[in-house]
Amino acid sequence: MSHVSDLIGTDIEAYLRSHEHKSLLRFITCGSVDDGKSTLIGRLLYESKMIFEDQLAALEADSRKVGTRGAEIDFALLVDGLAAEREQGITIDVAYRFFSTDTRKFIVADTPGHEQYTRNMVTGASTADLAVILIDARKGVLTQTRRHSYLVSLLGIRRIVLAINKMDLVDYAQDVFETIERDYRAFAAQIDLEDITAIPISAVRGDNVVEGGDNMPWYHGPALMEHLERVPVGDELEARPFRLPVQWVNRPNLDFRGFTGLIPSGTVRPGDMVRVLPSGRQSRVARAIVGGRDVAEAVAGQSVTLTLADEIDVSRGDVLASVDAPPAVADQFEATIVWMHERPMLQGRSYLMKIGTRTVTATVSPLKYKVNVNTLEHVAAKTLELNDIGICGLELSQPIVFEAYAESRDLGGFILIDRMTNNTVGAGLLHFALRRSQNVHWQALDVNKHARADLKNQKPCVLWFTGLSGAGKSTIANEVERRLHALGRHTYLLDGDNVRHGLNKDLGFTDADRVENIRRIGEVSRLMVDAGLIVLVSFISPFRAERRMARSLLAEGEFFEVFVDTPLEVAETRDPKGLYKKARRGELRNFTGVDSPYEPPEVPEVRVETTRISPEQAADIILEQLRAAGIFE
Ligand code: ADX
Repeated sequence: MSHVSDLIGTDIEAYLRSHEHKSLLRFITCGSVDDGKSTLIGRLLYESKMIFEDQLAALEADSRKVGTRGAEIDFALLVDGLAAEREQGITIDVAYRFFSTDTRKFIVADTPGHEQYTRNMVTGASTADLAVILIDARKGVLTQTRRHSYLVSLLGIRRIVLAINKMDLVDYAQDVFETIERDYRAFAAQIDLEDITAIPISAVRGDNVVEGGDNMPWYHGPALMEHLERVPVGDELEARPFRLPVQWVNRPNLDFRGFTGLIPSGTVRPGDMVRVLPSGRQSRVARAIVGGRDVAEAVAGQSVTLTLADEIDVSRGDVLASVDAPPAVADQFEATIVWMHERPMLQGRSYLMKIGTRTVTATVSPLKYKVNVNTLEHVAAKTLELNDIGICGLELSQPIVFEAYAESRDLGGFILIDRMTNNTVGAGLLHFALRRSQNVHWQALDVNKHARADLKNQKPCVLWFTGLSGAGKSTIANEVERRLHALGRHTYLLDGDNVRHGLNKDLGFTDADRVENIRRIGEVSRLMVDAGLIVLVSFISPFRAERRMARSLLAEGEFFEVFVDTPLEVAETRDPKGLYKKARRGELRNFTGVDSPYEPPEVPEVRVETTRISPEQAADIILEQLRAAGIFE
């Protein structure tokens, strides 16, 4: 194999030019350090001469120091990189490495192989065209090989290189290679992996990594690098229907309105008819601009600005698409979710979902099952823990333009973000839209919220009491309702203990059940507000996320969060139902404040410190607030 890196020294311009026109292959390597993964990548980098001289000198010095390979260069050191990782002997996080040969550029995502790094592998695989699955020839197809293959298949990678490594340690035996290849193909067929190229290699010795070598005359296929250089890439995307998720609307002056984004698939030319989704309006492309210049054609992978012949409404997050094969629009889906955070995913909780250039709110309901990534078995579950993979229903706050992930990673892949912390907590793939919502429409009613409230001569609202068990929520809520009632107001008090005897009889006190408890109460209180009532809600409601969800169901000014602020020690001393004592004795699990969390409100509308004021005084304050807000005269 030759390489052009000599040009770097002699003619940098020529080097960069030649570089620009090469195709790019993104691939992921799956395997663990034991399989020789780092050694393999190190050798690919080394042989393609993309390591600079000073790195090389450091590597040679390191190799002598650490010395697992005597005087030879230890390529694993190059890849393992950080000293800390080297000491641990494992590679953490996704490392993207770049190298190139005469014919092609490569980006390799190098992710750790252990199960606790599933999220890293998913991240690395989500942009890859091909996966190199490494197998130790002495061990054959292992559980981890199956797990890696499942994830790779899940993330839509169809091209596999089965690199059967350490052939030198099995005397370069053909039958060992063939048996492993046969085993693997039998398994891979079950998960829809068919495009498999098996290559016997020795990463340490170099056999079939970049060039063939003499040790395996029985093998007639390409060396790994040759294969990576030749395997087709990218063309499929150009052949697919045109899409452009609008990243921003570019309006420098009144005469110009362009829609800018990265084309994930297809081709577009001035004169093409496009459809704007979700609105469905159509127009003709007037101009296509790439890098500041008008072009006759823009293709997948390019950033483009389009102008349209007609003045139609297009905003950020919309998708421009070919009229013949437009993507669909929906707000309920079946999806796969890979959980990436230490705090588990809770069914019923809402998260921000970022898909393409859109961000919407998504609620998981229901979580159908999770997948044991080692056996592919389906396991019943209510939560997803870090690195779990689950199949679930998703309900969105608004319809989105989408395609199944199998069709388009860009319009079918998404991430989930925690609304409170803004952390990315999960990644997902849309399978298909659920039809259930499409046949359920909103019924227009003549008597509406205002009509019902007017008759009662009040403005409906929710008074949401939150606080620890024994804080005094029910006592204060009861007092407030009593007074409102005396004033002739129409009210209803939803109390945790009472509702849990009926509507929510099926729920316990796990995090997941509390989320569902509050989701239902949020919905019920919305209905009651619609009925024109002043609704009092008295639930521990320990999580900010669900209180916020309940708030979001109502109009501005309709939700009053009342924090009944009683320190744990005080609530525990009161212990009206003897539950704290039980919890301390270990007879009651998941008790709020003891072994289940309470997240106090940050900016409640009303805060009542029960150690300083009586329930009557608390009621005074709350009623005053309602009067001031115009809930009643
Ligand atoms: S919430 O957390 O889901 O909002 P909710 O307000 O419905 O709780 O119910 C709390 C009431 O259930 C408490 O006042 C208490 O009487 C009772 N209870 C029983 N077990 C628990 C528990 N493990 N944690 C908290 N409350 C409990």
